[in-house]
Amino acid sequence: MSVQADKNGITLGNWLDQAKTDPALVSALEALADAAFKIAKTIRTAPLLGQTGAANAVNVQGEDQKLLDVISNDISVAALSASPHVAAIVSEEIEDVIQNPNAGAGAGLVVCLDPLDGSSNIETNSAIGTIFSVLATSSAARPVTEAAVLAATNAQRAAGYVLYGPATLLVLTLGKTVAMFAEDAANGEFVLVRDNITIARKASEFAINMAHRRHWEPAVTAYIDALVAGETGPRGKPFNMRWAGSMVADVHRLFVRGGIFIYPALQTPGGANGKLRLLYEAIPMAMLVEAAGGKAIAGKAPLNTITPKSLHQRVPLALGSAEEVERLMGGYV
Ligand code: AHG
Ligand code: MN
Ligand code: MN
Repeated sequence: MSVQADKNGITLGNWLDQAKTDPALVSALEALADAAFKIAKTIRTAPLLGQTGAANAVNVQGEDQKLLDVISNDISVAALSASPHVAAIVSEEIEDVIQNPNAGAGAGLVVCLDPLDGSSNIETNSAIGTIFSVLATSSAARPVTEAAVLAATNAQRAAGYVLYGPATLLVLTLGKTVAMFAEDAANGEFVLVRDNITIARKASEFAINMAHRRHWEPAVTAYIDALVAGETGPRGKPFNMRWAGSMVADVHRLFVRGGIFIYPALQTPGGANGKLRLLYEAIPMAMLVEAAGGKAIAGKAPLNTITPKSLHQRVPLALGSAEEVERLMGGYV
């Protein structure tokens, strides 16, 4: 069955060929796909192998690492390091820019990634993911510096995520359209299942951690209160709330059903920039959402107006259906 499906289906490689993607980018994306197969397999067998717990280590953000955070990071770095076109890698789990020892002389790509997103979901066997952004650096200087990576965020070549849920899905953009691929594990392929995905302008679902309500800025509280008031409130229609607690799962829902995802600034010590990281969570998801006709903001400004200042910087983020993001942004003025 699956062999037949592959014969008739468009694989990731076919799709990249059809898009006339340059070989360097194909090489980086195939490395990411290779890592995704390995991470998916690791996740499937983790409960059997007793790998769902803590790594007893702390990452650069001071967060407890899970064993799968560490394994997924190692798989991703090894896969990307096999591509001579990848000059350097930035990972949530590693403090500094990782240099690719196998980079060719003309390697011009930098990959920023969150190897395992939503890792608090591991032990509950809920959806988790990988988020990535592929940048082109114009600097030939080696080693690749933090400044070179930050400058390269202006030259984003691709972004995507892998959702490890009941099915393993890859959602990818090269900037103009968004395509969804499903893992065909038997054949070691990602096969196209939806192309030209758009996010509806209007929505009736939202995703936010409601437990933080007392810490929100007034614009966020007013916006969410209007949604929660439903047909009796200013919006005049009911909204539903969904919170998977894994950004990949929550953002994936936007591509399927529309909606808004918010991880806002918190009025707590250290909470002014929210929780999510600019380089490997916000920027890639914003590229995907915008390619699908949605919007992304950081606080009250479009996300793409933010100048990155450090590798692991956080940013208050909202993205999804254009009408909802515009309404939230309007509440700040
Ligand atoms: P990570 O596991 O990579 O650190 O990311 C977790 C993030 C993101 O996936 C999710 O949206 C958010 O943390 C959930 O935060 P809460 O703990 O506030 O639910
Ligand atoms: Mn994450
Ligand atoms: Mn992570």
